[in-house]
Amino acid sequence: MSYDLVIKGGEVVSSSGSFKADVAIVHEKIAAVGLELEGRHTVDAAGKLVLPGALDVHTHFQLPFCGTVSADDFFTGSRAAAMGGVTTFIDFAIQSRPASVMQTIEARKAEADPRVCVDYSLHAGITDWNEDRVAEMPDIFAAGIPTFKMFMIYKSEGWQSTDADIYCAVREADRYGGMVGLHAENDDLINLFQAEAEQEGRRGMYVHALTRPPVTETEAISRAIQIAEAAGGALYIFHMSTGRAADILKEARARGVDVQAETCPQYLLLDDQLFKRPDGPHFGTCPPIRKPWDQQRLWERLEDGTVEVVSTDTCTFNSQQKKMWQGDYRKTPFGMPGIETMLPLTYTKGVVEGRLDLGQMVAILSENPARVFGMWPRKGTISPGSDADIVIFDPRLEVTISHRHLATNCDYSPFEGMVCKGWPTTTMVRGRIVVENRQFVGEAGYGRFIERHPVRSPRA
Ligand code: URP
Ligand code: ZN
Repeated sequence: MSYDLVIKGGEVVSSSGSFKADVAIVHEKIAAVGLELEGRHTVDAAGKLVLPGALDVHTHFQLPFCGTVSADDFFTGSRAAAMGGVTTFIDFAIQSRPASVMQTIEARKAEADPRVCVDYSLHAGITDWNEDRVAEMPDIFAAGIPTFKMFMIYKSEGWQSTDADIYCAVREADRYGGMVGLHAENDDLINLFQAEAEQEGRRGMYVHALTRPPVTETEAISRAIQIAEAAGGALYIFHMSTGRAADILKEARARGVDVQAETCPQYLLLDDQLFKRPDGPHFGTCPPIRKPWDQQRLWERLEDGTVEVVSTDTCTFNSQQKKMWQGDYRKTPFGMPGIETMLPLTYTKGVVEGRLDLGQMVAILSENPARVFGMWPRKGTISPGSDADIVIFDPRLEVTISHRHLATNCDYSPFEGMVCKGWPTTTMVRGRIVVENRQFVGEAGYGRFIERHPVRSPRA
């Protein structure tokens, strides 16, 4: 049989290991994985790794936030995704009252659809839990969105939910096989610590870390786990930053609580001393970057499977935006770019430096996010019948990260100067090459909204 396209001679990687094979594609799908396959077109992958496209389940493109709008829109953000080997991302439709969640989803899709160059989905962000949300839940699931986000902070953005809201949402989502994800920080304690710092005249970006010590995350995550356990539904923790929280997660999972979590490259690789530099605001994100001990423990909990997903929380603000608010650490637009560097950094700092094996990396970046978020086996695997979302990764390329060569719309990278031992050279989304020899050849509007299935068995 002759296929449309065959990727020849590469090392195909899955969570269970790697093997030499060709990958054959017909139209948008993987048709076969085997030896000596022939196609009308071929792509040579000799000496390279052939990876399932990575999924980034946490992005905020063109997000109105902190008095500005994040600088990567759905085009530049998804172009950066493609360049970094990410073939599917999940952004957020954060309910903007008085709009309903469904109205917000429609509006967000209208923004994304003409701009995206890789596939995408949305989490439904709930900002006012009430009977209207209960009533529209079936519609949200019918629209292919089984995951929700709620915030334990960000009162000033109008996003904060109470513990009771979270309890009810977890319980209600569970009826349909859904899952609530949380931004878990303790707002009261942060407010107290910030007020104390203000009284003492302490300012500057390092105070961001000092006023959000680990307890502000660990308490919120412990509370959220107990709330979800009592409500009897599934919980996901976004952007886990502390080693102690990862230990709390391990203990909760061991006693059978249905809770999963992600961490991000900034928490694995950066530490809070960076806040003391003149460009400290570039690293301002919530929760803050932590200490080397936290990094080490997060790597350990990735390695032992407690933390199942690495995502980026990409929320790009350029250096001009970071200077808004006269450097007030309480208002600095929170977030940073990262989607483009997630895969090469995880490969280098994880696999090359011996913290993960290749199979674990593919689990964490592709298979687990696809399973956890209701896209498996369509996404996240190189298997017959799956979407042909494939990355050819050259482990011999040495690339020093600089914003100058990145496609993200940002004038710095938080990972500037880090040396990556390997980089994606070709990215394919549903059989179409969108990056070739590290050049973007994709197209705005090619990406498709992916309808996801429930992530648990529905109870309703
Ligand atoms: O600082 C962050 N993380 N900004 C993006 C919004 C969020 O909290 O996820
Ligand atoms: Zn968040």
